Amino acid sequence: MLRVLFVGDIVGKQGRKALSNHLPFLQEKYNYDLLIVNGENSAHGKGITKKIYDFFINLGVDCITMGNHTFSKDNIFTFIDDAGKLIRPANLEPENFGKAVHLIEFKNKKIGIFNVCGSIFMTNTTKTPFEALEKLLKDNPCDIKIVDIHAEATSEKYAFMQYFKKEVQMIVGTHTHIQTADEAIFDRCAFICDVGMTGPYNSVLGRDTDEVLTSMLDEIKTRYTISTEEAILSAVVVDIDLSELKAIKIERIQIRP
Ligand SMILES: [Fe+2]
Ligand SMILES: [Fe+2]
Repeated sequence: MLRVLFVGDIVGKQGRKALSNHLPFLQEKYNYDLLIVNGENSAHGKGITKKIYDFFINLGVDCITMGNHTFSKDNIFTFIDDAGKLIRPANLEPENFGKAVHLIEFKNKKIGIFNVCGSIFMTNTTKTPFEALEKLLKDNPCDIKIVDIHAEATSEKYAFMQYFKKEVQMIVGTHTHIQTADEAIFDRCAFICDVGMTGPYNSVLGRDTDEVLTSMLDEIKTRYTISTEEAILSAVVVDIDLSELKAIKIERIQIRP
């Protein structure tokens, strides 16, 4: 068996703090084999830096997935090609930096972790997530496939799961920052539409409430400000049977402040 803990979008300092504070408990309770986190908002709400990448690695993270904010910090271009455990959506512009798959050997099985973006309500995408994952799967044959689909629309995430559920063992949605209560196994695939965020709880998706209200109510252009409120941790834990090559269990996790 392979047990995977996937932690949703880590937002800023409070999100990073919640991850490091809760990991010992999660490790003890779930005894997971593989730890994946989405890091697209880990550097002050947008993007990731080398220092934060190293912070995740030091915590024992096996793979960091990204999203539409992958390239928000210029610093990313200086280290993404050497960041062996970081993956970025295959179909996000620019396509020629970093990689979209991370391959790991586990108990004589080849595990592939993949990252794609949805096309609906998303800018800077190059092709659909369907085309993007098909190409990745063809180019990277492996026994167990785990996918982070970073997307807005629930319909697109469900269609994506239906299309790949016979060959992919785990598909999790990220990006909306709100956890959905639909976790289930479809065919051989463990699925949840959105894992939810690990970031400031009493906020607007991790962003400072006053700043968002000023921008929405007064229609004033504001500068993105991250909330300093304490964080919720959102995650899922998935069990995959390595002989049947099939997911057998998915459980939602939320630790609220
Ligand atoms: Fe996000
Ligand atoms: Fe996002």
